[in-house]
Amino acid sequence: MKKKFYITTPIYYPSAEAHIGHAYCTTMCDILARYKRMRGVETYFLTGTDEHGQKIQTKAAEKGVTPQEYVDEIAAKFQDLWKAMRISNDDFIRTTQERHVRVVQDIFTHFLKNDDIYLGKYEGWYCTPCESFWTETQVGEEHLCPDCHRPVHRDSEEAYFFKMQKYLPDLMKLMDENPKFILPISRKNEMMNTFINKGLDDLCVSRTSFDWGIQIRENPKHVIYVWLDALTNYITALGYDSKDDSLFKKFWEDPDCEIVHIVGADISRFHVIYWPMFLKGLGLRMPDRVFVHGLLDLNGEKMSKSRGNVVSPIPLIERYGVDPVRWFLAKEFSFGTNGRFSSELFAERTNTDLANNYGNLISRTVSMISKYFEGVVPELKNPGEKEENIRVLTEKTISQYEALMDDLKPTEALECVMELLNVANKYIEETQPWVLAKEGKTEELGNVMAVLTNTILVSTKLLSPVLVESAPKVYSSFGVPEELQKYETIHQFCPYAKLKVEKGAALFPRLDVKVETEYIDSISK
Ligand code: MSP
Repeated sequence: MKKKFYITTPIYYPSAEAHIGHAYCTTMCDILARYKRMRGVETYFLTGTDEHGQKIQTKAAEKGVTPQEYVDEIAAKFQDLWKAMRISNDDFIRTTQERHVRVVQDIFTHFLKNDDIYLGKYEGWYCTPCESFWTETQVGEEHLCPDCHRPVHRDSEEAYFFKMQKYLPDLMKLMDENPKFILPISRKNEMMNTFINKGLDDLCVSRTSFDWGIQIRENPKHVIYVWLDALTNYITALGYDSKDDSLFKKFWEDPDCEIVHIVGADISRFHVIYWPMFLKGLGLRMPDRVFVHGLLDLNGEKMSKSRGNVVSPIPLIERYGVDPVRWFLAKEFSFGTNGRFSSELFAERTNTDLANNYGNLISRTVSMISKYFEGVVPELKNPGEKEENIRVLTEKTISQYEALMDDLKPTEALECVMELLNVANKYIEETQPWVLAKEGKTEELGNVMAVLTNTILVSTKLLSPVLVESAPKVYSSFGVPEELQKYETIHQFCPYAKLKVEKGAALFPRLDVKVETEYIDSISK
């Protein structure tokens, strides 16, 4: 494991309000960032908004506000959502900020001088009312604008291009030498077959048909193409090419920092092809991994505001708290595959994992310790085979969890913890503490309580990057001092004797699936 960790989300277009699909990626990054911090890895977590481009300019005009006013309002909403989701980002970059704009202009100048970029002509099908170029496939045989459906005509405009062939050998080498550069591994073939092997045209990196973008100093009628502007956020946010570049030195230049970009499948090619080429042009190191996650749909349909089917996390958080929402996103489907949100799935996931497994184990254990030991966690004395089996399983769970998290498989890591909790629930059935109590087998009964407490608290540590609100509540109901909350203590078996437990309200009350389904469906629009 490298000593440092730099993780980024894509920067979101503030052209629509954030929905649960956007929250998905940010939450997964947050979980990974919190996990690394918990392991003592120096971590930097970046997110932000991608605020330039024609679409934003058009939306602002429709609303009768300036583009800046428009993005200010939506960027603030994104930030509010991240607060509500308890996202622990270290910075929030906005591409309209001066710290970004100036550096992007410098980068463009560098590319021009370095002969990576040349001025040429962009040719395509042009729609005059929409002021947009379209490709052959987009206009179809009838040659109609895909947006307004009016006829288009062949046209060309002056534009800058980035030479794609120049760094292609470097990109191929990068992919060959680093089998984990694109993850999941299956995405690599897709990238090669769909894009790279078909040949790469030079990339058009400027526009003259609108002006809401970063101006090219050398030729001010051009603005920089939004992807060149957007991708560079990952380094401008760290202070690349600025007076204070200490974060850049620390988290980009240091080979002992693992750099991970997490992106949705729809934007993977920009990160896997263009971004490494831009970095090569700048003479900078490559990220270690680009992890491509799947897309979340709503009841089987693509989420989109215009179709009227999006779910905002806010009303869910207000009703259920943030943890069930974070849990659903992390656990419902494997990171890297496509997934679904539906009201039933949400209610059932909350019930199965949080109420019936984790929550139930906690409430049973707390009540038994209160009933049989006056609320004081007993010491483990002369443990038997069953206790030893759980100790071994706990160690195995910890190491599997760590390996899976480090390998960017958080869903599977959490599943291991759920299995451990299941075993602990079964251990109650097998040992039947109520019988041990009746028979006066106090030492055996105490061991069961000590082992259950240990399982709960080890699991709480492992789940704490996800369950940010509940983990502190569990610690407080078991009276765990700060020292014992530290991750380093995780390998001690049953160090919790003498702690005083306190019965509280159920952490995860069981949801009535029918009632909650109706409620959630009423807020999806
Ligand atoms: N601005 C660009 C990214 C630039 S990064 C240098 C962009 N923005 S976006 O707002 O359209 O999308 C941002 C991210 O949100 C993408 O990774 C996209 O995959 C993700 N998602 C948008 N809808 C989603 C779902 N329904 N499900 C999962 N992720 C989704 O593209």
